[in-house]
Amino acid sequence: MIEKQEVQELFPTPLWVVDLKPAEAAPFNARLKAEIEKMIEPRPKVPAGSNWQTPQDLHKRPAFADFVKLLEVAARGVARFLQVDQHPMSITGCWANINPPGAYHPTHNHPNNYLSGVYYVSVPTAGSEILFQDPRPFGIMPKPREYSRLTANAANTACKEGRLLIFPAWLRHSVPANDGQHDRISISFNLMFDNFTETMASPLWAATAGKEK
Ligand SMILES: [Fe+2]
Repeated sequence: MIEKQEVQELFPTPLWVVDLKPAEAAPFNARLKAEIEKMIEPRPKVPAGSNWQTPQDLHKRPAFADFVKLLEVAARGVARFLQVDQHPMSITGCWANINPPGAYHPTHNHPNNYLSGVYYVSVPTAGSEILFQDPRPFGIMPKPREYSRLTANAANTACKEGRLLIFPAWLRHSVPANDGQHDRISISFNLMFDNFTETMASPLWAATAGKEK
């Protein structure tokens, strides 16, 4: 009767995970950490559970030129994978987050961009993670014997030093409280297509009316 039964995954949500070579990540992260810490001294007082964020123009600062190069290479890989590499993208914002012990970041996304991402400069505990929310608007949730990416409504990804994550800017995410003994430092960024209005925003279909016979 049944010849075969298979599942096709429709509309999957991509998360790109890029890990640097540990031997190269260590000195790279030490340099980034020193630059970021310089920027927030003297540290202004922030409410309990909150964090410090630097200005959002790190991508324009010479001290972060190597970091920008890393993002550009990774973003080109993403664009190639999605087959949209004929449309150039630029970094539209890039800032560092310094989360002291106890600090967390509530659920949010990054409007008006195509891709967003985060790079981990310093991670205090092995248990650190970022949590992504299921983007589907409605779900019936029977409790399965074991949650999978088809039945769960959230997914966590481990944060580790030297790891770069890139994901669609609409994907909602949060960062649980830092349960370690020292700061968790990350750099967030957004990417958007250059000249979006001129090159991409017009209708995708061709008009048929008014053509000469
Ligand atoms: Fe974010």
